[in-house]
Amino acid sequence: MKTQFITFIFFLITGLLSAQEGPIIIETQNTAVAYKINSEGKLLQVYMGEKLKNVSEYELLNSRNEAYVTAGMHDVHEPAIRIIHNDSNPSLSLFFQNVEVAEEIDNVKTTVITLKDDKYPVEVKLFFKAFWKEDVIETWTEIVHQENEPVWMTKFASSMLHFGEKEYWLTQFHGDWNKEMIMQESKLTSGMKVLDSKLGTRTNKFQAPFFFLSMNQPATETEGDVMAGTIAWTGNFQFVFEIDELNSLRVVSGMNPFASEYQLQPGELFKTPSFIFTLSNQGKGQASRNLHKWAQKYQVLHGTEGRLTLLNNWEATYFDFDEDRLVELFDGAKELGVDLFLLDDGWFGNKYPRNHDRAGLGDWQANKKKLPHGIGYLVEQAEEKGIKFGIWLEPEMVNPKSELYEQHPEWILKLKNRPEHYSRNQLVLDMSNPEVQQFVFNVVDEMLTEHPEIAFIKWDCNREMTNTYSEYLGENQSHIFIEYVNGFYKVMEDLREKHPDLPIMLCSGGGGRTDYGAMKYFTEFWASDNTSAYDRIFIQWGYSYFFPANTICNHVTSMGNQSLKFRTDVAMMGKMGYDIRVEEFSEEELEFSQQVLKDYDRLKDVIWFGEMYRLVSPYEEERASLMYVSEPKDKAVVFCYNLYPYREEHTNPVKLQGLDPDKKYRVKEINKIPGQRWSAFRQDDQVFTGDYLMKVGLNFADTRELTSTVVELTAEN
Ligand code: GLA
Repeated sequence: MKTQFITFIFFLITGLLSAQEGPIIIETQNTAVAYKINSEGKLLQVYMGEKLKNVSEYELLNSRNEAYVTAGMHDVHEPAIRIIHNDSNPSLSLFFQNVEVAEEIDNVKTTVITLKDDKYPVEVKLFFKAFWKEDVIETWTEIVHQENEPVWMTKFASSMLHFGEKEYWLTQFHGDWNKEMIMQESKLTSGMKVLDSKLGTRTNKFQAPFFFLSMNQPATETEGDVMAGTIAWTGNFQFVFEIDELNSLRVVSGMNPFASEYQLQPGELFKTPSFIFTLSNQGKGQASRNLHKWAQKYQVLHGTEGRLTLLNNWEATYFDFDEDRLVELFDGAKELGVDLFLLDDGWFGNKYPRNHDRAGLGDWQANKKKLPHGIGYLVEQAEEKGIKFGIWLEPEMVNPKSELYEQHPEWILKLKNRPEHYSRNQLVLDMSNPEVQQFVFNVVDEMLTEHPEIAFIKWDCNREMTNTYSEYLGENQSHIFIEYVNGFYKVMEDLREKHPDLPIMLCSGGGGRTDYGAMKYFTEFWASDNTSAYDRIFIQWGYSYFFPANTICNHVTSMGNQSLKFRTDVAMMGKMGYDIRVEEFSEEELEFSQQVLKDYDRLKDVIWFGEMYRLVSPYEEERASLMYVSEPKDKAVVFCYNLYPYREEHTNPVKLQGLDPDKKYRVKEINKIPGQRWSAFRQDDQVFTGDYLMKVGLNFADTRELTSTVVELTAEN
């Protein structure tokens, strides 16, 4: 009787609240998501898309879509949350409690909607952080309960969004080592499609945590209603797309619940990672530009600041170097004109020297044979030569042939009663263990404390998790995939508190760890170990959909058989660097590269912080073209690559975008080989209006395969 009365009062209150609140509108400059509370007190998503002009008309909307569907009740499709209470009851029913604006600072407004179960003391808060100018919304969930005993959660989505269109097209980005971010688009059919990762570490090796959802037609670059989505989580993720019997689509995004049932203690706050999305009614191009601006301003560490150009020694030497060889390479870096020399793998380990990838990982002391005077000497030498010095670390991993393995077997993720399973001859340390967190922190911190001149770190993570068992977690094995990431973030938080400014490149056997959770702590990432410029066009193209150019590291190397000019032009469309034996350059090649670096220095702000337009996709033609335009539209850089010998389409001019139609632009070809008399580009040094360039375009026709042109546009007064 008493419970019934309380329930009655509860409905009365929620009813009143819903009557008072009206629709809850989460809006940005151009888009909105709207919620309403029905007569039962349930929160429904009633709208998502281009914002309505007349706010009062959100009132007219209705829907059957519960905002955050709970398992165990009447909805039989994919839920957002599933909880098993300590009386074994596997249901949850959430009612609207209240809505508040948690924070409003200039461009950013955070709205929180609180939901509560009417039978169990479980509270779920839905957070929406709206970035007005960028049209980006970040959304996450907080779950807490006050039951007497812990509850089990078997699903805990960050976000659930509903769509009601005729057709849905999904673009996903999949791959492997050496072929990251390959784009595929398919029409969604009834039932479920899941994009996920179960790899733990190096988690994006096969599937990257990004997608586009396009309404009613395949997504184009400039037209159509699309949503771009990603999750800020450096671990297992899951995006579920389910079309039900009425052709409604729900998109449920979050950490992957696979093998991750979570035991939530009374009073413990469970916060899910942010799902980040943007809506565009002008195709994928606009969605990418929204994300680039948002990321630089709000997510990537020092996102709006410059980056260092560098010479890396990985492909130039692999493990085969010593002190003298490195100092020689410093000369190359200096001659070339880059800012920094980055010492890669192979500099550490004494009992088990790191002369190959089968030994030494975990023993972070300079190898006495290769580097008799230690890292300090290298730092000094670099300084003397007038360049900065950076170093490679892979602190989360261990080779079985290492002192660390001998000293701390209990720090390693492995199944005791089964054979160890290696990938790249190594194992993963247990980052859920605070002792391991401290060890990893110390590896980096001691390096930086002993050598404060170190100006850059490349942080690698070369394998995924398999045969996973954490000695530290004991009975709570299903927490490992989540607690590993939390441990990693804890270390990064502590490191960033002490070393806030140091640029750190995120690397994971190429681009196996590229997500916006990690990018809060990192300034850039290594896109792929595949540096062959032809393949690289596709890889960099893939990343360009979600990441701004100053975060995507592209190095000029000797891989592939394309010309130095082609390789250079490809590397230049992001954060450029080198990984090559400079002393093997001909005079002409050196002169060319020096000039390119000078031009890059002059144009890097346009490339890094300008608006990016993908003009011709290599997925659609045998060529690729993209451009960057400065915000005042007075400077632009256009890149065009011919991938195959003559095709008719190569003769079509490339129409530019994003310029001021009324401005006049002088077009200048750059990155020309010294002494080159002939160029396929015949419009050098001519002046055109933005209007002409956008309606007619530039002619990059070239009958030779694997050729490229880079032009600089400057507005004339
Ligand atoms: C990974 C990285 C490379 C290089 C090697 C070193 O594969 O992606 O860039 O640092 O490790 O072992």
